[in-house]
Amino acid sequence: MSAAGVVKAITPPNIRARKGSTPVVCLTAYTTPVARLVDGHCDIVLVGDSVGMVLHGLPSTLGVTLDMMIMHAKAVRRGMERALLVVDMPFGSYEESLEQAFRNSARLMAETGCAAVKLEGGATTAETIRFLTARGIPVMAHVGLTPQAVNVFGGYRVQGRGEDAERIWRDALAVSEAGAFSVVLEKVPEPLARRITEEIPIPTIGIGASAACDGQILVVDDMLGLFGDFRPKFVKRYVELGEVASAAIEAYACDVKERRFPAAEHVFGDEPKAIKG
Ligand code: KIV
Repeated sequence: MSAAGVVKAITPPNIRARKGSTPVVCLTAYTTPVARLVDGHCDIVLVGDSVGMVLHGLPSTLGVTLDMMIMHAKAVRRGMERALLVVDMPFGSYEESLEQAFRNSARLMAETGCAAVKLEGGATTAETIRFLTARGIPVMAHVGLTPQAVNVFGGYRVQGRGEDAERIWRDALAVSEAGAFSVVLEKVPEPLARRITEEIPIPTIGIGASAACDGQILVVDDMLGLFGDFRPKFVKRYVELGEVASAAIEAYACDVKERRFPAAEHVFGDEPKAIKG
């Protein structure tokens, strides 16, 4: 809170400075009401392209467009005061050229008010990260299992087992040297995530990685039990909201069929009630 009583939002340099310090708390959000719920508890709120699978029923994140990301990011921005808002660049919006990456990232920032973007990819994305950060666009990187590359990996497998560990380690080092202010490590073996966290100078944000990471992120619908299509091992369900909602909807349907709803308190009389006093 500033002297004028205005809440000061967390910035990318604030997150960068958290290396080796208190864990960075991150969750996704895609809507204003959820943004309002998570903002006070999180350092980073990510509008992830997981929105395509979680809210739009897409089979992967590959069908998510820049316009979809902008629409959800605007909604999330309206619900936020304190956390750093980071928005995913969707598949196909940054890989073609440095200019394409800048044009689309700048549009995302200008139209949504987000303070940073997230790009998937390691060493091959480093040049883009360097180009964007040099031009005023803070970048959060994402290595390990990068879901936009699902077809290259042949599924959502753990990345960096055995000899493949060096590839992920080099990816993490490359994005950090390119100027990313933090890096998501997704679905990599725990010892590798721990080693990367010890050896690179920027905060690592784990998802299916290690408690030793500098922070953690989960998809909010996963941890609330609202997304049931599949349940990755790395998700901890803090509540089963899907089951709670399903029971409530069943109770409503019964009430309607039995004419128990609407009850007297839900309907209106002929005359407005007299105003007292
Ligand atoms: O799209 C997403 O939600 C993500 C997080 C899981 C890191 O990239």
